[in-house]
Amino acid sequence: MKLFDVYPLNDITITKASGSYVWDENGVQYLDLYGGHAVISIGHTHPHWVQRIEEQIQKISFYSNSVHIPLQKELADKLGKLSGKEDYQLFLVNSGAEANENALKLASFHTNKKKIVAFNKAFHGRTSLALAATDNATIIAPVNETANIDFLPFNDEAALKEYFQNNGHTVAAVIVEAIQGVGGINVATESFLKLVRILCDEHNALFIADEVQCGYGRSGKFFALDYAGVNADIYTMAKGMGNGFPIGGILIAPYIKAKHGMLGTTFGGNHLACAAALAVLEIIERDNLIEMSKQRGMYLINKLKSIDGIDKVRGKGLMIGFNVPEDIKDLRKKLLNDYFIFTGEAKPNIIRLLPALNITRKQVDEFLDTLAEAIEEMKTPVSKGVEENVFQ
Ligand SMILES: Cc1ncc(COP(=O)(O)O)c(C=O)c1O
Repeated sequence: MKLFDVYPLNDITITKASGSYVWDENGVQYLDLYGGHAVISIGHTHPHWVQRIEEQIQKISFYSNSVHIPLQKELADKLGKLSGKEDYQLFLVNSGAEANENALKLASFHTNKKKIVAFNKAFHGRTSLALAATDNATIIAPVNETANIDFLPFNDEAALKEYFQNNGHTVAAVIVEAIQGVGGINVATESFLKLVRILCDEHNALFIADEVQCGYGRSGKFFALDYAGVNADIYTMAKGMGNGFPIGGILIAPYIKAKHGMLGTTFGGNHLACAAALAVLEIIERDNLIEMSKQRGMYLINKLKSIDGIDKVRGKGLMIGFNVPEDIKDLRKKLLNDYFIFTGEAKPNIIRLLPALNITRKQVDEFLDTLAEAIEEMKTPVSKGVEENVFQ
């Protein structure tokens, strides 16, 4: 049977990983500044994470949500403590799209309204509603089209105010990434996020913070929205949560009431996923990884700003983007193929850095030196010797 060919692949097969390095089948070592798409939070194959999963699998890996699963409560307590949202409620799922799907549905249940406000360049996942709230016509199938979602310009306070003046009574939720990931590392301004909070409060709408990529310590705070000093009604999480073990979740404000049967999933919150997620939080806490992400991020951003040849360095913590000018547009490919460094991309010309939160200073320096060297090499015209040869 053939695989359904939807992924444009790099011609690389990774067979081993540790911390911020991965190795291919030929033993070539790569530095991972991409974190498997912002997923690797505490480093590949972290020993504590491996041990937690191994121990759990010997006991029980799965039973359905029809019985008590104390690991879910343990995870909720730890998550409440580290995120500072102790009075919130946790619902566990398996992916980012599923988290957003449930958040949007819950907002509609809670408000008994239908309209969702999303923003230009937003990415919320590939399931039905999450996809409809994603600003990319090429991945929206006709069946996903709905009049229930309205897109507004990102960071445009006047447009948001005007929209709410005219339509506020119909809005169930505003969904926003405090730092857009797939959209190209676009940081929402604090005043924009504060305005979302105010307008949602005035119009009985819910504020959904999509923290699937920017959350879980990546930005240097537990949630990127925390920088704005306001709370969302629902936070969605996934990527960094299991360090590669599939798990997602939503944090739900205390005034949103649950009803039996309102939400549900077969696999969400299974024993093994909870063990993986607990291991992640234990390491984040033990090794102070949120602060480390902040410090490394500041260092990396400052150094990147001094590298000639790249533009518009931006981001927070270890969620960083920069523009790659046309004359070195193949920089990402070069870093991967010639220098064995994984980075992420955003269309059309943006490199995204999403490394593990415990990437070392030495690894960051290794990346910076290599980046400068790669740019220099791409910008250097054909060497004099070769030119002379041409005319001999
Ligand atoms: C902000 C954001 N939300 C949702 C998703 C969807 O997550 P998943 O691929 O786990 O469904 C992504 C994935 O890139 C994302 O970046």
